[in-house]
Amino acid sequence: MPPMLGTLIRPPGEHVQLHYVLAHTTSLQVVEVTVRRAVPEDASAIAQIHVRSWQVAYRGVMPDEVLEGLSVVQREQFWRGAAAMEPEAGAVFVAASGADVLGFCAFATPSRDADAGAGVAEIGAIYVDPPAWRSGVGRALMEAALTELRRNGWRSVTLWVLAKNRRAREFYARFGFEPDGAEMREDRSRQNEVRLRASLDASGATERHDPGLPRQN
Ligand SMILES: CC(C)(COP(=O)(O)OP(=O)(O)OC[C@H]1O[C@@H](n2cnc3c(N)ncnc32)[C@H](O)[C@@H]1OP(=O)(O)O)[C@@H](O)C(=O)NCCC(=O)NCCS
Repeated sequence: MPPMLGTLIRPPGEHVQLHYVLAHTTSLQVVEVTVRRAVPEDASAIAQIHVRSWQVAYRGVMPDEVLEGLSVVQREQFWRGAAAMEPEAGAVFVAASGADVLGFCAFATPSRDADAGAGVAEIGAIYVDPPAWRSGVGRALMEAALTELRRNGWRSVTLWVLAKNRRAREFYARFGFEPDGAEMREDRSRQNEVRLRASLDASGATERHDPGLPRQN
């Protein structure tokens, strides 16, 4: 897939539209991106994005041998099972443009952390194919996941992120995620991970806009 530059032009929901410019052309193309529940047949595309995204995002953070040793086949098996999980346990969403999967997000209900508290869900993974970064795909996935969690009565949501993953931390901050004080060591990289948390109250965990922008009341 060629690199994409894009702008989200419709409020996120089940069906989201993106405008994007293919970097190798000068033409503006309109592509409809749909966020939907993954089916087991998506597992291969999800696994490929998972591995590609790790290899780009964690280069220099994780040891090269870890990144080169990632197995698409292993991850495909995992995601095939996850896509078939019981709805009460969580869900995997994909953002797709036609047959092309551009990214995915998985959440668990409740949070897998025993100390997370009652009514707390967990975003277990959110990965976008590197050529599609910063084109609104991650936002569409996150909004769809948060909307679903809120609709199902979850009060807040946590996630774990490598402390040094600045790209993801900027992204999460945009949705109101803040460190809740929990930290742990990630096995493969021996890097610190921090837990972030956002409220799912009406006022929390929606995309925050830059200060100074006019607000509509
Ligand atoms: C983190 C990730 C999912 C974000 O997805 P994305 O599609 O690139 O993000 P979006 O384009 O929807 O960005 C939404 C907003 O997040 C913020 N943001 C996203 N990437 C950013 C960056 N590199 N720097 C600063 N802010 C950023 C911006 O506010 C952006 O809005 P804007 O483009 O209108 O300014 C994606 O970068 C990714 O897959 N990274 C690698 C995997 C990873 O680290 N996953 C998290 C594991 S814990």
